[in-house]
Amino acid sequence: MSEPQEYIFKYSDEEVRRLVVQSIYWSDFTEELLRKAGLSKGMRVLDVGSGVGDVAMIAARLVGETGSVLGIDRSADSLAVARNRAASAGLANVQFEQAEVDSYETQDRFTAIIGRMILHHLPDPTSTLRRLSGLLAPGGLVIFQEPDLTGLKMEPPSELSARVCGWFPQVLERAGLDSKLGQRLPLLMKEAGLPAPHCVAVQHLSAPGARRNREYFEVSIWGILPLLERFGIATAAEVDIATLWQRLAEDTLSHNGTWHSTRMVGAWTRA
Ligand SMILES: C[S@@+](CC[C@H](N)C(=O)[O-])C[C@H]1O[C@@H](n2cnc3c(N)ncnc32)[C@H](O)[C@@H]1O
Repeated sequence: MSEPQEYIFKYSDEEVRRLVVQSIYWSDFTEELLRKAGLSKGMRVLDVGSGVGDVAMIAARLVGETGSVLGIDRSADSLAVARNRAASAGLANVQFEQAEVDSYETQDRFTAIIGRMILHHLPDPTSTLRRLSGLLAPGGLVIFQEPDLTGLKMEPPSELSARVCGWFPQVLERAGLDSKLGQRLPLLMKEAGLPAPHCVAVQHLSAPGARRNREYFEVSIWGILPLLERFGIATAAEVDIATLWQRLAEDTLSHNGTWHSTRMVGAWTRA
């Protein structure tokens, strides 16, 4: 088993907010994917790398009172937030447990194992998938969603938009993570010994002047700022976080640009 990899983002209240905002952005896709893959009433689900619980809560609604969801994550603080949020939402069928994904063991067998934006944080995603498959009941579902950061761009590009979009994959690559892992998700599942998966991808496009993406963009930049500085990719002065959105908005209008979000890849198969 590989050594646990340090989580690149700093655990804090702001990180909780970043995860919640990010979840809102992707929640429709996540719910559609889980439904399409066959997550349904009565299933017993393991959600790996649960964070503050959004994917687990979507799954809990789909499996209903006769089903259950266990979310695992290494961060006790995130799980405390997840428990509070699940309780506030009145979801009694979801529980959270602190654990490392790559060493989690249980005698329980799950009818579905799911995860979003977790495999690219792990040192050897193929062996993680192979190991997790061992926790599945026969015929159980495996459903993962992973990003492909090469999707992020403004079209036509401007000098500023290209620089800013480049920061995200650069940070991940410098941290030793695969910023395009979403593209490899079908292959990883096959390499893990699973039947060839179904696979879909989604990307949000927005016209000049759209404000919808502002909060997601701002928390994302906030999240990578310390890493941009630590890896020498950009200084805080260069980023100038207080004015960045406005500068990009002006750039978008003057280039008549369309923004393309990160591509989120969803893949599912039955063991
Ligand atoms: C980007 S967040 C995604 C959270 C959630 N799946 C979502 O989509 O909202 C990644 C999560 O994986 C957790 N994580 C990273 N490496 C882990 C590991 N080796 N074992 C358990 N959790 C891990 C982090 O603590 C973090 O909560």
